[in-house]
Amino acid sequence: MSAEAKIISLAQTDAAQIASGSTPESATSAEKSGMDQIKVKGGNRLNGTIEISGAKNAALPLMCACLLTDEPLNLSNAPTTLRDIRTLSAVLESLDVTVSANPELKLISLKSEKTSTCYAPYDLVRKMRASVLVLGPLLARFGVAKVSLPGGCAIGTRPVDLHLKALEQMGATIKLEGGYIFAEAKDGLKGAVVEFAKVSVGATENILMAATLAKGTTVLKNAAKEPEIIDLGECLISMGAKIEGLGTSEITITGVEKLPGTTHAVVADRIETGTWMIAVALTGGDVRLKGANIDHLTALVGPLEAAGLKISQDDQDILVSRNGTPLKGTDIMTEPYPGFPTDLQAQFMTMLTLCMGAGMVTETIFENRFMHVPELGRMGADITTQGNSAIIRGVSGLRGAEVMATDLRASVSLILAGLVASGETTINRIYHLDRGYENIVDKLCACGADIERIPVSLQE
Ligand code: EPZ
Repeated sequence: MSAEAKIISLAQTDAAQIASGSTPESATSAEKSGMDQIKVKGGNRLNGTIEISGAKNAALPLMCACLLTDEPLNLSNAPTTLRDIRTLSAVLESLDVTVSANPELKLISLKSEKTSTCYAPYDLVRKMRASVLVLGPLLARFGVAKVSLPGGCAIGTRPVDLHLKALEQMGATIKLEGGYIFAEAKDGLKGAVVEFAKVSVGATENILMAATLAKGTTVLKNAAKEPEIIDLGECLISMGAKIEGLGTSEITITGVEKLPGTTHAVVADRIETGTWMIAVALTGGDVRLKGANIDHLTALVGPLEAAGLKISQDDQDILVSRNGTPLKGTDIMTEPYPGFPTDLQAQFMTMLTLCMGAGMVTETIFENRFMHVPELGRMGADITTQGNSAIIRGVSGLRGAEVMATDLRASVSLILAGLVASGETTINRIYHLDRGYENIVDKLCACGADIERIPVSLQE
């Protein structure tokens, strides 16, 4: 049976199974633990040190890069315990990649020596849309790929049209059928000039990886400039790829025949770093953020200093403190890097709920990223939304409540609110949190927060 025939038959089985609703959803222990609760009692200042983990949004594309070579790719400083990392590991294993993670060493080793199928199934891809990042590498190395369309998520429809259009420009034929992307490049991918209609992190990453093995030169215009893209590019260069212009809106890649493996350290997570900076702005205190790079957060530093937080870089760490100075409201608008990160919008909004005066938040990246607003409202926040803007009027205090996590960053914004609310806040559905924050309870407890995780079996 040809590779494509096998892929189609797998897809038909998969689609039939889903249609009949017979997809076994036996909850694994990881899924059960996702129903745990987090309880936090507000009022404690944060003092101490938090070690910043490797960036989830760098580790995910880096893991997909293993498909570009038959040699081992070793990722150090990797956030091995995150749900998203485990989900992508399962997707890669379904593509015959050998994946081993060592949490103590924060190491993930991957080897894509051979693959009998280039098929990423719906049931795995639906859990984590970044799985679509296997598409470019599979096409570049094997010339064929069957990848489920990732579908939308809570924060928006999140199409992948920019990924597909660019791959077609590089000579791939793309068919969409039964919720799957059927992609082929029998004679391999060819270099092309790709101008993205809008800045897209994922599309930049997918095409950057695909272009490393394409015949000829590829130029990406209107490329994303996130530090996670620079990290991916630096890993690819250490594998022998020829790339210029990382961190600018124009990246040039000259394809090579083959890429060897490498060992690469995952860049520190700037979104986790920004989350804890906002936490200290809210609670007051003095915290050292170990391994954090202030240069990756310039768009956050300004508004936080304007609000009253003291911030400085001390060698490899960031020091943040607020001791008694009142918080003042300020305005933010999310934009592609180096603008204010959309992944810190919810957290910043939580801070604005307790600032003197008002602040305005404008979300320009995703169409539905205000789901934390009603939950913050239940805790006493005064927020009015109008389309993709929100006006936040500072209140004297928040009240603890039972709240529901809805997406990764909205969930952590509720934790931040609980750290300063009077009384106890209970956050449900924390599987959202487990996707992107390692050891959040331990890290906050170590700095004096009164926070605990309640297993589902002990919940009343
Ligand atoms: C990445 O998502 C991040 N995820 C997101 O982080 C982050 O919010 C986002 O970039 C923006 O910075 C990972 O890196 C795994 P985009 P991505 O393509 O690549 C539209 C988190 O919380 N678009 O830059 O999916 C899209 O709908 C997550 O860690 C198209 O229209 O984001 C969005 O409106 C959430 N067509 C905008 O572009 C496309 O083909 C930016 O999306 C692709 C994207």
